[in-house]
Amino acid sequence: MSKVTVIGAGNVGATCVNVLAFNEVADEIVVLDVKEGVAEGKVLDIFQTASLLGFDSKIVGCTNDYAQTANSDVVVVTSGVPRKPGMTREELIGVNAGIVKSVVENTLKYSPNAIILIVSNPMDTMTYLALKTSGLPKNRVFGMGGALDSARFKCYLSKALNAPTNELEAMVIGGHGDTTMIPLTRFASYAGRPVSELMDKVTLDKVAADTMVGGATLTALLGTSAWYAPGAAAAYVVESIIHDQKKIIPSCVALEGEYGETDICIGVPTVIGKNGAEEILDYKLNDEEKVLFTKSATAVRATNDVLKEIGVL
Ligand code: 2OP
Repeated sequence: MSKVTVIGAGNVGATCVNVLAFNEVADEIVVLDVKEGVAEGKVLDIFQTASLLGFDSKIVGCTNDYAQTANSDVVVVTSGVPRKPGMTREELIGVNAGIVKSVVENTLKYSPNAIILIVSNPMDTMTYLALKTSGLPKNRVFGMGGALDSARFKCYLSKALNAPTNELEAMVIGGHGDTTMIPLTRFASYAGRPVSELMDKVTLDKVAADTMVGGATLTALLGTSAWYAPGAAAAYVVESIIHDQKKIIPSCVALEGEYGETDICIGVPTVIGKNGAEEILDYKLNDEEKVLFTKSATAVRATNDVLKEIGVL
């Protein structure tokens, strides 16, 4: 019997539930929201697609009733406010830090053994906060950003190469921020061939640049943060945990010397299985990539420092 809870029935949370339900990832999926009726309504709407789309997942919506989330294997935290056009993810810290901290506390009261997946922004800092305040081991608290950014990288590669996305391998590491993420162009491939052999440098640099502002581009178009890809990316990580798939997914995990960093949560290639973030893989970065990674970590650390300044840590 597997159980997944999604906290927050906003666009990202609801999309995550929709994908989890459609793919029948868990025996039971619970979604909780603070706004009266929203989680219940979205669940009912999703369930009304079941006979049309042909799935049979048990889904439950509730208003702030954490008892319903009891004994979850995985809890996905999407709560908080999304960004508006022109805002960075980092600007959300003041509001979202308090929300994420209390959500994690409430969740663990009912699901002490759960793996916590943080999606709320600024995601790297929210993951750091959740790790520090929960006292959980690092394999059980980690953040989703790299799955999304890598999917966006593959989207722009697919357009540039006119290639199907499922033939592409591409990974984004570093922070989940417009200027902190690092599309690893050197490691990207199309059916086993390095993409650098298949397009000129200017085109590849443009793909990387578009990837980095992939979220901001959508925020400008939509007037709020994106949700289809963020929700699907969270569900992709959850599936790897619940089905012990051991997918290698760049995930925001606590580093203890890996990639030359400590006391930080940031995106690195990670094996995701039934025990959560099971193993950090050491991709051999070249000098240029190492410089970018250090710069990214410095920026993430500066945002983490705000947690102390505003007194939540
Ligand atoms: C994004 O990049 C919401 O952070 C999320 O779209």
